[in-house]
Amino acid sequence: MGDKIRILGISGSLRKGSYNTAALQAAAGLVPEDAEIEIFDISGLPNFDQDSEKDPPAKVTELKRKIREADAVIFSSPEYNYSVPGFLKNAIDWASRPYGDSAWDGKPAAIMGASPGAIGTARMQYHLRQIMVFLNMHPLNKPEVMINNCTSKFNEQGELIDEKTKEFIADMLKKLVDWTVRIRPGERSAGSA
Ligand SMILES: Cc1cc2nc3c(=O)[nH]c(=O)nc-3n(C[C@H](O)[C@H](O)[C@H](O)COP(=O)(O)O)c2cc1C
Repeated sequence: MGDKIRILGISGSLRKGSYNTAALQAAAGLVPEDAEIEIFDISGLPNFDQDSEKDPPAKVTELKRKIREADAVIFSSPEYNYSVPGFLKNAIDWASRPYGDSAWDGKPAAIMGASPGAIGTARMQYHLRQIMVFLNMHPLNKPEVMINNCTSKFNEQGELIDEKTKEFIADMLKKLVDWTVRIRPGERSAGSA
């Protein structure tokens, strides 16, 4: 992966024709040259069980390793019943445990979401931000990428065809890379001592 900023992409939808997974795939092609996105498929995780947190399934160990290897994370998720899909919350919970061994700690992150509705996952995004507070993640505040009326913004092949949305995603990725470099440990500017 070289010296590029490594961004781990996680979709909050299992659906084959998922708009959110498609948005993540589009993002992988819109990322700045000094960065790259690897999409990690979180399907197949069992329900979180605290009895197993110290000896988790192999997929959880892999997820935690991928998060730790990444410089930043990007979530692209639907809104389910005004909140974060249980499937995504389950993955977040697994990677946050056991206490004191959370893979999310200190990780810069960006959020986007697509919905056929008018609000474009805003309520899910604010719930996810709230979760990030306890996880001590560092979400990018702006721009917020809320892809509303998404059925008109992707073609039948699942490709993002809306130019404005592409611009929003590209802008967010550039700012996520800048943010990641800015808050990276050891990046404190000289003279601040
Ligand atoms: C259980 C469930 C709850 C949903 N709740 C919401 C909701 O609160 N807000 C919303 O905008 N869309 C809601 N939807 C519609 C989803 O936005 C829509 O199914 C979307 O295509 C899912 O994203 P995906 O294409 O990435 O799978 C819900 C869908 C499901 C299956």
